[in-house]
Amino acid sequence: MEPKLVILTLFLLVCSTVKADGYIRPPPRETLHFPWSPKPSSHPQQVHISLAGDKHMRVSWVTDDKSAPSIVHYGTSPGRYSLMNQGESTSYSYIFYSSGRIHHTVIGPLEPNTVYYYQCGGQGPEFQFKTPPAEFPITFAVAGDLGQTGWTKSTLDHIDQCRYDMHLLPGDLSYADYMQWRWDTFGELVQPLASARPWMVTQGNHERESIPIFKDGFVSYNSRWKMPYEESGSNSNLYYSFEVAGAHVIMLGSYADHDEYSDQYHWLQADLAKVDRKKTPWLLVLFHVPWYNSNEAHQGEGDSMMETMEPLLYAANVDIVLAGHVHAYERSERVNKGNSDPCGAVHITIGDGGNREGLAHKFKEPQPRWSVFREASFGHGELKIVNSTHAYWSWHRNDDDEPVRSDQVWITSLVSSGCIAEKSNGLRKFLMEP
Ligand SMILES: [Fe+2]
Repeated sequence: MEPKLVILTLFLLVCSTVKADGYIRPPPRETLHFPWSPKPSSHPQQVHISLAGDKHMRVSWVTDDKSAPSIVHYGTSPGRYSLMNQGESTSYSYIFYSSGRIHHTVIGPLEPNTVYYYQCGGQGPEFQFKTPPAEFPITFAVAGDLGQTGWTKSTLDHIDQCRYDMHLLPGDLSYADYMQWRWDTFGELVQPLASARPWMVTQGNHERESIPIFKDGFVSYNSRWKMPYEESGSNSNLYYSFEVAGAHVIMLGSYADHDEYSDQYHWLQADLAKVDRKKTPWLLVLFHVPWYNSNEAHQGEGDSMMETMEPLLYAANVDIVLAGHVHAYERSERVNKGNSDPCGAVHITIGDGGNREGLAHKFKEPQPRWSVFREASFGHGELKIVNSTHAYWSWHRNDDDEPVRSDQVWITSLVSSGCIAEKSNGLRKFLMEP
């Protein structure tokens, strides 16, 4: 083997096995076995959907056939497609791997709360999805750090059993970790859910997959999981926003530059300035590395982002922050600058979707005052926003393969508090003078 190849192989091996922290994780469940099930080369694989601006949906899929068309036929009756749109396609290569053709086609305008039937590329099976509602109530399923193990399957099965409108994923999707075919198996694993409800995702460290000199970061992630960044005025797939029902949701990039001179910071200022709380009373933010974390795993990793961006989120009256990365569950009180603050955001860490690295068992003692509930178990969350003032959050532990509701709380919006008027000067300072 050539010396360059040996070095590259060793690098990949180290990258895929190294753990950033010193604690001992419990035995994880095995990575799932995916039997080879060949399909006609032009048939769609790994179908998933995501919101793409107001009343539009992006349908994404992969074909082995590189010349398969990027068209989606759709309609509101099974087998009868009165509408069609043409999209775009891409592909990428990664060392010895070549991806299939990755198609992204935006369809719409769509009616809210409506089931659509669709076919990708004019061939293969029919899929269906339901669009989110235009008004409250709306329910989000939330699970990060998914991977593709027996625990992932358990989490996905539980989410499938609940009535929800959209999946929010705060980073670490496939745990492909440079092995590109694992992106394909992950796409197949999540297809039953991700083809039926929009999956809105942001990146984690396992999406980076950069190799100095050889490969830039996020090549696979950006090619496969295109999110509505252009639609929200961002210049990067690593951070974007969207509005659904009465919620403005911001997906930030823990692994994109985030200092106050960065593009991401300036985009965030501009995006927050556009939020109209009369139209979207709830303001949610997701990113991968938690800022409020009393687990021993990944301590301090979110500090630099928190230092620059927490004042911005606080001034803008963000209601809830959802993060992943730590493989455990934790919910805070409303907090700011490290302390409880009735005008700050509720921070929830939910990096416990079920990946192959196992759980982060060790929490720091004593439990900080801001930390309300913490537990190292796999599971998923559900956020039901009932109206402009009240939302119900619940966390469902995977207990012996049963979803057990283990933490639950009613959250009242900052719109219904005196915080917004109180902070209006602070907001002006941050948002009007970039
Ligand atoms: Fe992570």
